[in-house]
Amino acid sequence: MNKKEYKNEEIYRRRIEHLFESVNLEKARSWFEDFQQLMAYYRCAIMEIETKFNVLNEEFSLEHDRNPINGMKSRLKSPISIKEKLDRKNLDTDISTIEQELNDIAGIRVICSFPDDVYMLADALLKQDDITLIEKKDYIKNPKPNGYRSLHLIVSVPIFLAKEKRNMKVEIQLRTIAQDFWASLEHQLRYKKDTNFTDEMANELLYCANLSAELDEKMDTLRKHTFENDHSL
Ligand code: GTP
Ligand code: MG
Repeated sequence: MNKKEYKNEEIYRRRIEHLFESVNLEKARSWFEDFQQLMAYYRCAIMEIETKFNVLNEEFSLEHDRNPINGMKSRLKSPISIKEKLDRKNLDTDISTIEQELNDIAGIRVICSFPDDVYMLADALLKQDDITLIEKKDYIKNPKPNGYRSLHLIVSVPIFLAKEKRNMKVEIQLRTIAQDFWASLEHQLRYKKDTNFTDEMANELLYCANLSAELDEKMDTLRKHTFENDHSL
């Protein structure tokens, strides 16, 4: 190695050392452990809420011979989506910031058979004495301009750990099968890569949203007719 080559390598080595000095590995490891723990707590909160809905579904089907819940889906927000949302809101990546500022890390979607089931299930959940309502958005009574319909709740639910009780936030979306069908397809169309989402497409989608609301109404009439002797339905 000649003198010049040696000098270049020395500069390179110092640069790399400098780069790694700014990353405090101990700090990064401790942050990652706390993050993993927080995600585990959210998974527990999802289990708690899912169980509550399963119990309500079971009870209702025993009493009324039909299931108000057609299906349930849950998801934990991915680390990338968490980071993107923090950046959008100009927030830091402290674990406490993540927990305080983001309401939708734990998400549950409850797909209901009929529109009334949405409200019956939401009321039954919110009546439970360990559930605290943080926020409610009723996009069924007030649909979004694009036609989106769903009832959104942000609730706080306790999880019981060996040494402590922790309140965790969960986002719950309740909607009918028809509303879910529309929202799933709308999401796919709107976020399709390399495609311009035109006004015409938006209008067509709004038309479809209104059609599916009509379908819900018609199915509801059928339900009332079928279960006409059971006035609690
Ligand atoms: P974000 O959580 O940042 O999206 O906004 P927000 O706090 O105003 O929440 P909002 O309650 O309006 O919506 C939360 C979630 O509902 C979204 O992440 C979607 O899953 C769903 N959602 C809301 N609007 C639409 C919509 O127009 N179409 C579809 N398909 N889903 C929607
Ligand atoms: Mg969200």
